Amino acid sequence: MWNPLGLTLMLVLVWRGLAGRCPRICVCDNIRRHVSCRRQNLTEVPVSIPQMTQRLDLQGNVLKVIPPEAFLSLPYLTHLDLRHCQLERVEEGAFRGLGRLVYLNLASNHLSVLYQEALDGLGSLRQLVLERNQLEEIRPGAFSQLGSLGLLNLAHNSLVYLPDMAFQGLLQTRWLRLSHNALNVLAPEALAGLPGLRRLSLDHNELQALPGEALSRPEGLVQLELGHNPLTYLGEEDGLALWALRDLALDHAALQDVGAGAFARCPRLRSLDLQSNQLGGLPPLEGVGQLRKLNLSGNPLLCDCAARPLWEWVARARVQTDGLCLEPSRLKGEALESLRAKDLYCQRQGDKKEEGEKGALRPRGPTRAPEEARATKPCPAACVCSPDSQHSSCENKGLRLIPSGFPNDTQLLDLRRNNFSSIPQGSFPGLAHLVSLHLQNCGITNLEPGALSGLDQLVYLYLSHNQLSGLNSAALQGIPRLRYLYLDGNRFTRLPKASLKVLPRLFSLHLEHNALQHLALGDLSGVKGLHCFYVSGNNISRVGPGPALELEKLHLDRNQLQTVPTAALEGLPALRELQLSGNPLRALEDRAFLPVASSLQHLYLNGTGLQQISPGAFAGLGPGLRSLYLEKNRLQTLPAMASFTQLELINLSENPFRCDCRLLPLHRWLVGLNLRVGATCEFPANVQGQKVKAATVAFKACPGWGTKKGKQVPLLAQQKARKVQGRGKRKPSRLAKVGGSGDLGGRGHVD
Ligand SMILES: *[C@@H]1O[C@H](CO)[C@@H](O)[C@H](O)[C@H]1NC(C)=O
Ligand SMILES: *[C@@H]1O[C@H](CO)[C@@H](O)[C@H](O)[C@H]1NC(C)=O
Ligand SMILES: *[C@@H]1O[C@H](CO)[C@@H](O)[C@H](O)[C@H]1NC(C)=O
Ligand SMILES: *[C@@H]1O[C@H](CO)[C@@H](O)[C@H](O)[C@H]1NC(C)=O
Ligand SMILES: *[C@@H]1O[C@H](CO)[C@@H](O)[C@H](O)[C@H]1NC(C)=O
Ligand SMILES: *[C@@H]1O[C@H](CO)[C@@H](O)[C@H](O)[C@H]1NC(C)=O
Ligand SMILES: *[C@@H]1O[C@H](CO)[C@@H](O)[C@H](O)[C@H]1NC(C)=O
Repeated sequence: MWNPLGLTLMLVLVWRGLAGRCPRICVCDNIRRHVSCRRQNLTEVPVSIPQMTQRLDLQGNVLKVIPPEAFLSLPYLTHLDLRHCQLERVEEGAFRGLGRLVYLNLASNHLSVLYQEALDGLGSLRQLVLERNQLEEIRPGAFSQLGSLGLLNLAHNSLVYLPDMAFQGLLQTRWLRLSHNALNVLAPEALAGLPGLRRLSLDHNELQALPGEALSRPEGLVQLELGHNPLTYLGEEDGLALWALRDLALDHAALQDVGAGAFARCPRLRSLDLQSNQLGGLPPLEGVGQLRKLNLSGNPLLCDCAARPLWEWVARARVQTDGLCLEPSRLKGEALESLRAKDLYCQRQGDKKEEGEKGALRPRGPTRAPEEARATKPCPAACVCSPDSQHSSCENKGLRLIPSGFPNDTQLLDLRRNNFSSIPQGSFPGLAHLVSLHLQNCGITNLEPGALSGLDQLVYLYLSHNQLSGLNSAALQGIPRLRYLYLDGNRFTRLPKASLKVLPRLFSLHLEHNALQHLALGDLSGVKGLHCFYVSGNNISRVGPGPALELEKLHLDRNQLQTVPTAALEGLPALRELQLSGNPLRALEDRAFLPVASSLQHLYLNGTGLQQISPGAFAGLGPGLRSLYLEKNRLQTLPAMASFTQLELINLSENPFRCDCRLLPLHRWLVGLNLRVGATCEFPANVQGQKVKAATVAFKACPGWGTKKGKQVPLLAQQKARKVQGRGKRKPSRLAKVGGSGDLGGRGHVD
């Protein structure tokens, strides 16, 4: 007979036997298999933790780094707590072997990057907490191994931007928390590949406009939190299209106006929270027949005749509405919902400005309360400082000196169209919260060393359309968080190499319309994290190679390049978009794009005078390519394109195609392609003006006409089917690579 005590004893013995002894500094609960080693100043994971341990609490130590396979001897762990461990780095494979782990807490550490393989081996993980770190970017693929993850918490980090496919692989994730970051840009596909997502928290970020395209990707989204973002306007064109959405929070934004159709493509919406915005009213909202709750409290509602349509709509549609009238004074403090229709009238005359008489509600500028607040805050004489939006503007005031005395919480400072010529050292004192600084069109010839010092939080710097021809190496010191730098429309003849070195986080650099002749990519070695580099419209005839960069976009269009700078592309393994249009290329040589063939998605070769494309010119490019621009050239023929199986756009218009037998492969390919390409025959005369695809008469007599094309047929049909299925939007096709697409004639082989 088994007795329970005997069983327990035996288990304990087995447990003891298998396991090491409890480390001296830890507390081991061997029955529940919990081990706690909290706040012991441990610098590494103790070695003798019992092997059977399921929950391990290491909070409050000083681990700093988690080395590879740090927990290999603890394969039964289900819960691991590493909060407050001063972690700076999680090495590749750090958690390898933890195939049973369901909960991992890495909150309150100092992580700034997560490398791609850092979370390998955590296939059972359901909750990952990364809040309160210093993450600045998400590398696509970082979460790709976490197929069971239900909750990903990235709140309270320093994210500014989300790249396409940032969350690729999170097939089960239901809640993604991105609250309290500094997000201002979401790439269109940033939220693609999250089929299970139900709740998305984006509150307390820096979104100035609704990233409608990105937000419409997670189609099953039910709850969306967007409060506390500096949004000022929402209209239909913002494009929020979420069929399943029920709860939308847009509280504490800076909304001054909402268009009637703003939520027309969210038909299931039940609850809309607009509290604490600057709305004077709201038009009756279209297409939200299921709306039950509308929170307008904390808005300066104007309850006169202009509010009637709103009042009637909420009464008719039985929408429970919260919100108090601010004006007119006879109704101040009354709840809009409690009024009768006849209360909402406009006085004929004698009354001061009755805005309602002009018809629909209009956006209201800063209301009374902010004006009172303004009195208590400083603002230079020529300028307007809005305490609500924390924007200050002195645009086009003929200023010759940079004013001082802006509110110390200013986030955006607009000084464009003045006449400063030189920016002296320390020109922006007391603006430690500034995020965006506009100095376009100011006749600036010189930035003195330290001109911008103290702008610790600056993310955007606009110096477009000035007279800068160079930058002192210390000119950009003191703005370590800068991500976007605009130097377009100046007089640079070379890259300001030394001054870029102090911008470790630079993400995007604009140098269009300068006078660069020779582009030395080596000059970007100080900004290796640069993702987007724009040098369109210079006079560049040579591009010199450089070290490996993370560039994703390179715009070299409208320059003087006579060949594709293939050697320089060697250092750009992540390049996705290459703009070469408007260069006098004339011909493309074999293997011109080989160094970037595995990453390139968008290639612009329009208007390059191309007469000839060598058969191997596109070698290596294959299913990865999504768009190819070849319009406005002098092409009479094209090499085989069959390896481009995932194209979403190809433009062949305005080329003088010669529709003879040599073009038969193109004709065939186009027939199987479900895209509008604009290819037209110029020669011979009998088919001039006909579409290449339709000009069968030109190809009928060719050898091989009418033979089956073997395996290409089903593949093209398959592609067609995919196109139809994904009509209107880009599907995450690269996520779930359709089997077979990779072996169409083989990548890297153009027949
Ligand atoms: C950890 O280190 C701190 C500072 O050196 C010290 O005050 C504290 O007593 C240490 N704690 C333990 C448990 O050793
Ligand atoms: C609207 O927001 C206010 C807070 O501003 C809150 O007290 C109230 O309960 C909310 N109303 C609804 C219907 O949720
Ligand atoms: C701005 O200055 C005031 C005093 O002048 C201070 O109380 C306040 O905390 C400062 N605000 C910020 C955001 O630095
Ligand atoms: C700007 O100032 C310079 C001298 O400081 C003057 O020559 C120039 O005409 C001014 N430009 C404008 C647009 O006022
Ligand atoms: C462009 O560069 C060429 C030399 O490569 C030079 O002759 C020409 O003057 C330059 N044009 C401009 C507008 O700077
Ligand atoms: C190339 O095509 C793109 C996309 O249509 C267009 O924006 C660009 O202006 C074109 N460039 C030239 C030089 O024609
Ligand atoms: C193709 O290029 C032509 C210009 O030659 C342009 O009018 C047309 O809109 C482009 N088509 C697509 C699909 O981009």
